[in-house]
Amino acid sequence: MDFQPLKYIYKPSGNPDAYTLLLLHGTGGDETDLIPLVQNFGDSYNILSLRGNVSENGMPRFFKRLGMGIFDEADLHFRTNEMVAFIKELAGTEGFDPTKVIALGYSNGANIAGATLVKYPGFLAGAILYRPMQPFKTIENKGANSKARVFFSSGQLDPTVNREATQGYIDILKSSGSDVEFHEFPTGHNLTQADITLSKKWLSENFH
Ligand code: MLT
Repeated sequence: MDFQPLKYIYKPSGNPDAYTLLLLHGTGGDETDLIPLVQNFGDSYNILSLRGNVSENGMPRFFKRLGMGIFDEADLHFRTNEMVAFIKELAGTEGFDPTKVIALGYSNGANIAGATLVKYPGFLAGAILYRPMQPFKTIENKGANSKARVFFSSGQLDPTVNREATQGYIDILKSSGSDVEFHEFPTGHNLTQADITLSKKWLSENFH
């Protein structure tokens, strides 16, 4: 199967040195979904928002799943490769710095961002992962090559994420070199104001 382009929205900040926030929606969302959220983060970042190339009964996703929380890992590998190749090419045509990309993903979008962190250590400068779960059952340790700073937020009552597995996933990210700030909120899979407030603070402290 050949790589396909992804639908996207790109909004340049006007500053050639700016970081680019890579917005990755949840299941059933699209490239417009997370734009209102990042308006909370100020106007100093370029915005690149993608739509996942997979359709699950009409609902866009970034990769296929076999059931709730059971991922089609071959498709996840392919879609991660496809997305990274697309972003690298788009950096040339849209004129953003591919070494200054910070993913911001919710749920399914957080999971392809996590797959990118572990498959391409060094590609993302940072990542905001809202309600993520470990993308691959087994993750090969490629050494501490990632320099990514990661904001990771979970819901204590989230029925879609195995709470026991979360700490193991954080440990994998840390052993790959990522610097992880973890928050857990007394909520479910939904995003809360606390996710937005704390990730905004983290972003302004880590990337300006
Ligand atoms: C997934 O990637 O499937 C998520 O964890 C759950 C969802 O997107 O609904």
